[in-house]
Amino acid sequence: MKTTQLLDFGSNILRSKKIISHRIDSEVILSYILKISREKLLIKEDKVCNENIIKFRSLISRRLKQEPVAYIIARKEFRSEDFFVDKKSLIPRPETELLIDPIVKIFKNKNLFFLDIGVGSGCIIFSILKELNHSKGIGIDICKKAVLNAKINLNRFNLKNRVKLLNKSVDQVLNKKFDLVVSNPPYIVKREINRLANDIRKFEPKVALDGGNDGLDVIKKVIYKSKEILKLKGVLALEIGRGQYFSVARVLRENNFRQIRIVKDYQNNIRCIFSTL
Ligand SMILES: C[S@@+](CC[C@H](N)C(=O)[O-])C[C@H]1O[C@@H](n2cnc3c(N)ncnc32)[C@H](O)[C@@H]1O
Repeated sequence: MKTTQLLDFGSNILRSKKIISHRIDSEVILSYILKISREKLLIKEDKVCNENIIKFRSLISRRLKQEPVAYIIARKEFRSEDFFVDKKSLIPRPETELLIDPIVKIFKNKNLFFLDIGVGSGCIIFSILKELNHSKGIGIDICKKAVLNAKINLNRFNLKNRVKLLNKSVDQVLNKKFDLVVSNPPYIVKREINRLANDIRKFEPKVALDGGNDGLDVIKKVIYKSKEILKLKGVLALEIGRGQYFSVARVLRENNFRQIRIVKDYQNNIRCIFSTL
C-alpha cells in the first residue's frame, strides 16, 4: 500500500465516525510511524511495509475511540518544543503559551526563583528556564505520575541543575520565598466536566481539569498560598478559564493583590492574570 492510499484509508474511517480533524490526524499518525515530518510525508509517495500498516491501523483504531492524537503519539508541541505526554499529564494547550512572554519580559536579566504549581508535563517550567538563563525553578504536582513525566521532559532538555520537581500539593509548600508563582490550575466547574468534548472527558486526567463546584477551588488555594510565599513585589501569574475573570479578580483583590497585566486569548477572553502584592 502507498502512503497516500493509507492516508485516505485512515482519514475516511475517522471521518465516518465524525472526527472533524480526520485528515490531519491520519497524517500526524502516519508521519509518527514512518518517523518523517508531515511535510515530507505529503510530498513523498512511498510504499509502506506491512508492519507499519498494522501499526497504523492499530493507532487509527485508538483515535476512533476518541483518544487524543497527542496521547497516541505520546507528544505535544508547546512553544516549538516537543513534550512527552501520556494520560497522566494534561496535553499542553496554546492558551498556556500566553503566560510565558510576559514572564520573560518582567524577569529578563534577573535572578529569578520561581514556583510552578501543577507542573503537569513541565511545559511552563521548561519554557521559563529555557528563556531565562539565570532562573531556577521548583515544580510541584499533586499527581506523582505527572511529576515523573515532567522529569522525563526536563531531563531530555538538560535543565536538571536548575530545577526541582516534587510530588506535593499546593498546601504543602512551606518555608520558601519566590519571585514568581506561576500556575495553570484545574479550573473547570465540576458539573461541566461531563459536557466537555469526549477526547478531553474520557482521556485527560480529572485532577488536571476539576476545579470543584465553582471551578475556583485550586485557583483560590494558589492565591492564598502565594500570599504567604511570594517575596515583596513578587508576581503571581495565573491562567484562568473562560468567563472566570471577574470572580478571580475579586479573590485577588480580597487578598491584597494588585493586577499588573492581563492577557486575552485568540477569542478575546481574558485567560491570564498577572498580579503583585
Ligand atoms: C491544568 S493542569 C496544568 C498542567 C501544566 N502546567 C500545563 O499547563 O499544561 C493542572 C495540574 O495541576 C495539578 N494539580 C491539581 N490539583 C493540585 C494541587 N492541589 N496541588 C498541586 N497540583 C495540583 C494536576 O495534577 C495537573 O497536573
